[in-house]
Amino acid sequence: MGHLRCRIMYILGGTSAKNVAENLASRLRQPLLHTTYKRFPDDEFYVRVLDDVAGQDVVIVQTAYPDQKIVELLLIQDAVHDAGAKKITVVLPYFGYSRQDKKFEQGEAISARAIAQHVSLHADCVITVDPHKEHILKFFTVPAYSCSAVSTIARYLKEKNVDFILAPDKGAKERAREAAALIDCEYDYLEKTRIDGTTVKITPKKLDARGRHVAIIDDIISTGGTMANSIRELKKQGAKTVSVACTHGLFVGGAKEKLLAAACDEIISTDTIETEFSTVSAAECIAETLLKTIPHIKN
Ligand code: R5P
Repeated sequence: MGHLRCRIMYILGGTSAKNVAENLASRLRQPLLHTTYKRFPDDEFYVRVLDDVAGQDVVIVQTAYPDQKIVELLLIQDAVHDAGAKKITVVLPYFGYSRQDKKFEQGEAISARAIAQHVSLHADCVITVDPHKEHILKFFTVPAYSCSAVSTIARYLKEKNVDFILAPDKGAKERAREAAALIDCEYDYLEKTRIDGTTVKITPKKLDARGRHVAIIDDIISTGGTMANSIRELKKQGAKTVSVACTHGLFVGGAKEKLLAAACDEIISTDTIETEFSTVSAAECIAETLLKTIPHIKN
């Protein structure tokens, strides 16, 4: 290996992913870049990269949510590109707009594609965590990879003695299966029908949850409706405790109150979106993927 030159990977944390960026830098023992961020009186964003990144590998870490953070990301990418970075890797811990991944009705925007194309402009590689659907990776015009925080979440749940995993819908079944295999417990799934953006209906189903410590696992908690309905169903069926776990905790529209009203025992999320519920970090799976895409890191 002596003939391989080791490379340094500079980590740049945007304002929406400071925790993930710092965690990545310390895990990989790579330097964090110094930046100045500010907002003008009219709220427009300003960024300046203070270190010299000419000819360097730079990893920009920024969650693309909410809208303002997407503009910040594009400006950061412009600054790093213009400063002459050799390779720009964009890490999107959470890829906002990825749920509008196709035209459901004539005349709609394919939002995931629109954002991906803009992010690709000044990126050589993109990494995102637990995308809602894997096919959105193809919308980037540069190589794009996903990684999964499920094993990090499962490890936490195992420590909490969770002994039954539930997917709130068929879409989350694979995630539940994977978590249950890591914990070494049983899993099941529910049938969910989405009525509209804030209303879901869960079809009652006999679950083997009596006396168990259950965790419901999903990629996203948005309004909390999906989880609240599932918690009620589990408690009705005699579950001892019910916690909810997700990769991306948006917690909009009174989600926290909804979950607590449903007698949720614990709310667990990663830090792809930093909230009071970011109990575990997505940095572990991102670091593993980074090491695969930039193999000769000096650490
Ligand atoms: C949708 O299929 C996702 O996997 C989540 O189940 C959904 O985003 C959760 O939304 P909410 O918290 O608003 O019910």
